Amino acid sequence: MKRILSGVQATGKLHIGNYLGAMKQWVKWQDKGECIFFIPDLHSLNIRPKPQHLKNETLNNVAWLLACGINPDKSIIYAQSHVSANSELCWILNNYVTMGELNRMTQFKEKSQKRGTTGQLVGLFDYPVLMAADILAYSANIIPVGEDQRQHVELTRDIAERFNNIYGKTFIVPEAAIGDIGSRVMNLADPENKMSKSDNNQNGNVLLFDKPETIKSKIARAVTDSGSTIEASDNKPAITNLLQIYAGFSDRNVKEIEKKYANKGYKEFKTNLADLVADKISELQKKFEKNRKNQEILKKILEKGAQKANIIASKKLVQVKERIGLI
Ligand code: TYM
Repeated sequence: MKRILSGVQATGKLHIGNYLGAMKQWVKWQDKGECIFFIPDLHSLNIRPKPQHLKNETLNNVAWLLACGINPDKSIIYAQSHVSANSELCWILNNYVTMGELNRMTQFKEKSQKRGTTGQLVGLFDYPVLMAADILAYSANIIPVGEDQRQHVELTRDIAERFNNIYGKTFIVPEAAIGDIGSRVMNLADPENKMSKSDNNQNGNVLLFDKPETIKSKIARAVTDSGSTIEASDNKPAITNLLQIYAGFSDRNVKEIEKKYANKGYKEFKTNLADLVADKISELQKKFEKNRKNQEILKKILEKGAQKANIIASKKLVQVKERIGLI
């Protein structure tokens, strides 16, 4: 049976890119294998979040996962910091990756440029190695992520292969699974750039926490391209993005939607899209609110998840230590 694994950070600004590119995809994987979905809380330390904020957002993420349809009876849900094997393996893997490779990571280059002091932290630089450990400790086969994480999964593959070549087959070499729809949702105000939690221009991001009126006004104000046809193409990045979002929320393909709006204007298209997204997110929010009320249940889910995750990861760690000569 295949093992599927992925994670979403608890930094408090989950947006429709996270939903369409990752969380919504994960739900489908639950019937296809053994799933592990986790909150990489250690990764979030590189923005030095306020302690209370991190605690709150970690539980929020669990409630969002449930709201999106992740079933804790089928999938392991855990917090990264509850399984020390992830961090220990990260330290070991640091010796099988070079600074040159980490310097080439697009996300590191972007973030280190945009941020002030925290852009220079080793925790940000080393983030892809912890991610590799998150994956390799669980022998995961399939990693469903958005396009922006492809490079990190590629690096994980390289690390796994390098290690296997030296010590014999130890790690499963994982594959990224990137959906056709919504794997790179762009910023509504700046469709050349992806929607991102760390973006300061929050008008371009539709957050899972946004009220329906806010969602509608953000979509109404979304930039469009010149011309008036509603068609996906390379020279129409704004409309292509809106069509992708429409497809993601309606479960229809882009061609069908183009056909529906063949002789219609941007205004009607955007109004319908805004209603669609606002309705779907309101539904998710209702479920979120219900789940979030019972904090004890959320903590229990993490506890149970960590117990199972610990068993899997610590076994792999024992094997790795043995291979490299730690006694
Ligand atoms: P994070 O928290 O930045 O994002 C969570 C998931 O959302 C996807 N995503 C997007 N998809 C489409 N359009 C966008 N604009 C968009 N923005 C984000 C991301 O690709 C991701 O799938 N390093 C990871 C978390 C992580 C992880 C792992 C994932 C840590 N260890 C091991 C998989 C396996 C991260 O920060 O994702």
